[in-house]
Amino acid sequence: MKKTIQPLKEHLQSVYLTEEQIQGKVKEAAAWLDSKFEGKTPLAVSVLKGSVMFFCDLVRAMKTPVQIDFMTISSYGSSSDSSGMPKIVMDLAASVEGRDVILVEDIVDSGHTLKKMRELLNGRGAKSFTVVTLLDKPARRQVDIKADYSCFEIENEFIVGYGLDYAQQYRNLPYIAILKREVYED
Ligand code: IMP
Ligand code: MG
Repeated sequence: MKKTIQPLKEHLQSVYLTEEQIQGKVKEAAAWLDSKFEGKTPLAVSVLKGSVMFFCDLVRAMKTPVQIDFMTISSYGSSSDSSGMPKIVMDLAASVEGRDVILVEDIVDSGHTLKKMRELLNGRGAKSFTVVTLLDKPARRQVDIKADYSCFEIENEFIVGYGLDYAQQYRNLPYIAILKREVYED
């Protein structure tokens, strides 16, 4: 169902992850990538729009030289339930052939988006494929798939902020908050 909402602070139930918690984990993820890709120049791919904040903080925290590219995938419309059919809205500019690709996701929920990205990039001849996600919601998984590195495993709550939206709102919060159920449930 399409809903237009105002991004009101009253719609937020509670802060789930603070800016400090997030930034601490970003540094750990960057260090993990630095050790994995020492001496290489991987291509870091941001899955837009949700991963944009995490992506920018992550690549800036890395010491390894990386190239960056973007792909916009849409699966939700305005509801809080995945359609299971992610669509490419904007494709990569770079070729991934022979490249070590780091795929940066905001959240692995049903797993459909990640599955689609993996098939696509493998089909285009990527040399290696490493998935880093800020959040993992294993309770909602419909596809048997896992990120190589996950910063936070979270409960089955609908969350917003730090790139994550509800009806395109709340993305620019510097922290992550739980959205009140009454905002998205009928
Ligand atoms: P998938 O269900 O694993 O394909 O994830 C699809 C996309 O849904 C994610 O990349 C997010 O952008 C979005 N998503 C999943 N769970 C949440 C949530 O709790 N809040 C906001 N967006 C979400
Ligand atoms: Mg996403």
